[in-house]
Amino acid sequence: MSAPRSSKQAAGEAAARLVKNGMVLGLGTGSTVEFFLQALARRVETEGLQVIGVPTSQATSSRAEELGIPLTTLEHHQDVDLAVDGADEVDPEFRLIKGGGGALLREKIVAASAKQVVIMIGSGKRVARLGTSFLLPIEITPFGQAATRRHIEHDGKCKAFLRTSDDGGAFLTDNGNYILDCKFDKGIANPVTMHRKLSEIPGVAEVGLFLDLCDVVVEGRDDGKVEVHKKPAK
Ligand code: 5RP
Repeated sequence: MSAPRSSKQAAGEAAARLVKNGMVLGLGTGSTVEFFLQALARRVETEGLQVIGVPTSQATSSRAEELGIPLTTLEHHQDVDLAVDGADEVDPEFRLIKGGGGALLREKIVAASAKQVVIMIGSGKRVARLGTSFLLPIEITPFGQAATRRHIEHDGKCKAFLRTSDDGGAFLTDNGNYILDCKFDKGIANPVTMHRKLSEIPGVAEVGLFLDLCDVVVEGRDDGKVEVHKKPAK
């Protein structure tokens, strides 16, 4: 008997079915993306589906290569048809917190280059207010990190924790930067204002708030079923 699918696996497999022949894909990062890549690779192999992917991290690049998914870069393909990624939180207005895997900067650049962005989530990721169940990741430059952290805590009225690796040293992103994970006592009341404030702080490379970058949410449920939510047109 095969093992039951997790909610993330259900979401990843459903998102892979949205891919069409000839697409340039943004390939996100994380454990839900892993299920998407596996399902996409099966379609490439069995259906002869032709796609090319822009990976958002070194981890995704290596994994896609192993799975036989052809890769490109934004330098070669600046117009991405469809970006597919995970998220840490999604609010009712399709706004996201991302960066749990530390790839937020590249993920945001790729999402912003895409005609359509599909976000896959497993259960437990929908929230009424961002910043209530997950700390907000902010990528900062190592230079001046203590000063940048102080500014973030002051302007964001939050507590910022430097992300560490398993060896106890600072976690380094693919861009050679640090991540601060920021705790907001009552969540983020106004994500637009907060995003602007935090983005203006020198030393901040990217903020893990993705405010107008998600068109479709593919939500896997614990029973293996999937719901697809489309953002209403403005
Ligand atoms: C990586 C991300 C991921 O998409 C996010 O952390 C969700 O990860 P997972 O699918 O493993 O739950 O933003 O930077």
